[in-house]
Amino acid sequence: MSKGLFITVEGGDGSGKTTQLGYMKEFFAERSVDVIFTREPGGTAIGEKIRDMILDPKNREMGGMTEALLYAAARSQHVLQVIGPALAEGKVVVCDRFVDSSIVYQGAGRGLGKAVSVINDYAVDGVMPDVTFLFKLDPDEGRKRLRQKEPDRIESEDRDFHRKVYDAYLDLERSHPHRIIGIDGNRDPEEIRVEMISYLDRLLDGYSEALVK
Ligand code: TYD
Repeated sequence: MSKGLFITVEGGDGSGKTTQLGYMKEFFAERSVDVIFTREPGGTAIGEKIRDMILDPKNREMGGMTEALLYAAARSQHVLQVIGPALAEGKVVVCDRFVDSSIVYQGAGRGLGKAVSVINDYAVDGVMPDVTFLFKLDPDEGRKRLRQKEPDRIESEDRDFHRKVYDAYLDLERSHPHRIIGIDGNRDPEEIRVEMISYLDRLLDGYSEALVK
């Protein structure tokens, strides 16, 4: 069975992840690679409904475990319906957030710890990223950068929550040095783009010709 390349993109709220994802789209378009861009929570019709439920600021009473299970439920559907089939066809899949987000936001931020890994082992069903780009920006800086839009339920969490999330990302980076590429987000977006593209170039060069249309 041919197997594609699974890339995930991670970072705290306001870390500049979305800007860099835009550059990544341009990169793949120029290289004519058969690629799918998707996101979590979401990526499927069911997942997008779950997303609305999770992020709705009106759902103030939602418990941490409910939240973790909903993220995992959306992920399970995403793997089943989109990510798994695309990888089986040999495509490149780029996903804006994946299981690492649950480990840091629900595991560390909400303090649910190990339970989150256990739930997500079922959700991902063995599908794990080959490479993860982690955009690292101090959460105080990230909050300043967030656009003046209405914050969603997670963005509205306090400073302490976002600090725990950030520290947990740094721990993950340390424990998965071969998978996670940490990128200093406290720089000019263009400088960050150049660094990311050089990683992507190497990644694709070392990858099967079959990926190129
Ligand atoms: P989104 O608007 O997509 O934020 P961003 O542009 O920062 O990715 O909202 C997703 C929010 O959900 C974000 O605050 C991170 C959070 N999240 C979790 O808490 N756990 C998860 O497993 C995932 C995928 C996201």
